[in-house]
Amino acid sequence: MPNEPIDVDAITGHRRPRRNRQFDWTRRMVRENTLTSDDLIVPLFLIEGTDRSEEISAMPGVLRNTIDRAVELAREAADLGIPAIAPFPNVAVEKRDRTGSEVTNADNLICQFVRAVKKAVPQIGVITDSALDPFTDHGHDGVLREGVIVNDESVAQIARGALVQAEAGADIIAPSDMMDGRIGAIRQLLDANGHQDVGILSYTAKYASGFYGPYREAIGTGDLLRGDKNTYYIDPANSDEALVEAHADFSEGADMLMVKPAGAYLDIIYRMKTEMQMPVFAYQVSGEYSMIELAGAAGVIDRDRLMMESLMAIKRAGADGILTYHALDAAKAMPA
Ligand code: PBG
Repeated sequence: MPNEPIDVDAITGHRRPRRNRQFDWTRRMVRENTLTSDDLIVPLFLIEGTDRSEEISAMPGVLRNTIDRAVELAREAADLGIPAIAPFPNVAVEKRDRTGSEVTNADNLICQFVRAVKKAVPQIGVITDSALDPFTDHGHDGVLREGVIVNDESVAQIARGALVQAEAGADIIAPSDMMDGRIGAIRQLLDANGHQDVGILSYTAKYASGFYGPYREAIGTGDLLRGDKNTYYIDPANSDEALVEAHADFSEGADMLMVKPAGAYLDIIYRMKTEMQMPVFAYQVSGEYSMIELAGAAGVIDRDRLMMESLMAIKRAGADGILTYHALDAAKAMPA
């Protein structure tokens, strides 16, 4: 019995999927998805000053940069064919307060950067976030009153932040705060001030995730944050709720939607793309980046390979583009 020949053709009915995988050329012929630099968006961390960078211990390979240096990174991204960048500021602690009022300062770090990069590298898209967390002294995305993140006051502040960013020259506002009604409020305020052409990329399905840890070191909110963000980000156990948010964002005027994090939420990306039939972006967040970098540095996995595989998985799930800290390296690794 053990030596009985196995009739594989009888089992498979002559269907042998390995035929298409035999050669590099057959694999290339049947490949369903491709990644190009058009799929990438570069998040950048900003600090005050000139010609200076700081390391972020939880994110090896990523730096906080002064505006002049960040502009050079934007130029590099543009030269690699990357369509857009997304700056995030590490705001001086003395400028942070309970309501995040620095977000409305037309000369804050983001606005200064937007003006500089629009002048020096006009061909790259600039996507800014008006969530309050870089500007609050408690690290929350909204206004904190007696232990509660108050929705409507936060929305007003976030919309004011969006307006100063649009006035500085931002092309797309991407609010990451998950307050109810902020997309419509931003749209109204932008339109009332002549910014009909400024787009909105909504962080539609932002999950209450442990994958954000390294980012909080990057923008200096980790030590400040009191409590958690569970009253405004989505519970990782939920999927329908992401679609409720997507329908709300669509009806409030969002031009594009986003899922965040990416790798552990591929089902959400797939569902949102399938059900909404709109541009859907995904944010491969800091924890996803750092896991690949640190495991690679430890010799446990092949870093370059996982960088590309994880991005391809996000694309395959349906993402139209990916914010990733690997954007520059991934673009360099792609066929020109
Ligand atoms: C908050 C914000 C977060 C990220 C970007 N903006 C989440 C958070 O700090 O709670 C995470 C990005 C990342 O982890 O790369 N508005």
